[in-house]
Amino acid sequence: MNPVKVGICGLGTVGGGTFNVLQRNAEEIARRAGRGIEVAQIAMRTPKPQFQTTGIAITNDVFEVATNPEIDIVIELMGGYTVARELVLKAIEHGKHVVTANKALIAVHGNEIFAKAREKGVIVAFEAAVAGGIPVIKAIREGLSANRINWVAGIINGTGNFILTEMREKGRTFEDVLVEAQALGYAEADPTFDVEGIDAAHKLTILASIAFGIPLQFDKAYTEGITKLTTADVNYAEALGYRIKHLGVARRTDAGIELRVHPTLIPADRLIANVNGVFNAVMVNGDAVGSTLYYGAGAVVQGRADGVAVDHHRV
Ligand code: HSE
Repeated sequence: MNPVKVGICGLGTVGGGTFNVLQRNAEEIARRAGRGIEVAQIAMRTPKPQFQTTGIAITNDVFEVATNPEIDIVIELMGGYTVARELVLKAIEHGKHVVTANKALIAVHGNEIFAKAREKGVIVAFEAAVAGGIPVIKAIREGLSANRINWVAGIINGTGNFILTEMREKGRTFEDVLVEAQALGYAEADPTFDVEGIDAAHKLTILASIAFGIPLQFDKAYTEGITKLTTADVNYAEALGYRIKHLGVARRTDAGIELRVHPTLIPADRLIANVNGVFNAVMVNGDAVGSTLYYGAGAVVQGRADGVAVDHHRV
């Protein structure tokens, strides 16, 4: 059978990692998918000689990928709302399936994008948009499909969790750790998204939509960041037997579904209080299963051009 032909738009931190994994694990992926996956085209703003792209069509115009009759699936990994929205809608219009890791795009324009995809009979997949490498969307959609979900709560921003961890463990200042998080490639292009809770609210909006079957309503989420926290706050919490974690919480209430992102005191002996560094964890409570926990790397490291994950955690 002919391979599925994919076009990657954006070869930055996430795009580069995706490209490398598709190349390195091509055999494994083909065995599981039942068909090979061939990267047939890449759109990138500037040439990236560190990637082996011989035989792959290269362009700097993402819309060429969206309209290329050879391409079956467009992978949008550019980030941002404006061009990404136009690209995804154009790709759908041309009958392509779309894969995106763009949480902002899905949270803000997802209703429009999914309506268009339904009309055209194509799929828009976005597993990596929430909690990085943790397949939590599939877990809620498929693994917990028989449950009525009561609540979802999690650490869903790696940058914020890294900052709070370093402040607590090493007594470092907020500003100092943020600079490092940016250098390590954890943070968004605009790190305000991370530290003011906007990125977490994007992800929570998506989780809530899937868990509760509601439209995406990013503007309804209560959003509070971690910028007002000081090392003293973190230390006082520790002295009282708590950890400060920046949580996203979505739960059923009598008045409807509540969405909130804010710093939270959690008893230090709870599992989620011990999720440290750039790691994410999402707890999902279903009426049949009770509470479940999904844990893993929440952000990728810039410059990991070989696409190999680093496991910072001892299990
Ligand atoms: N800036 C995001 C984070 C990247 O720190 O979680 C992954 O979505």
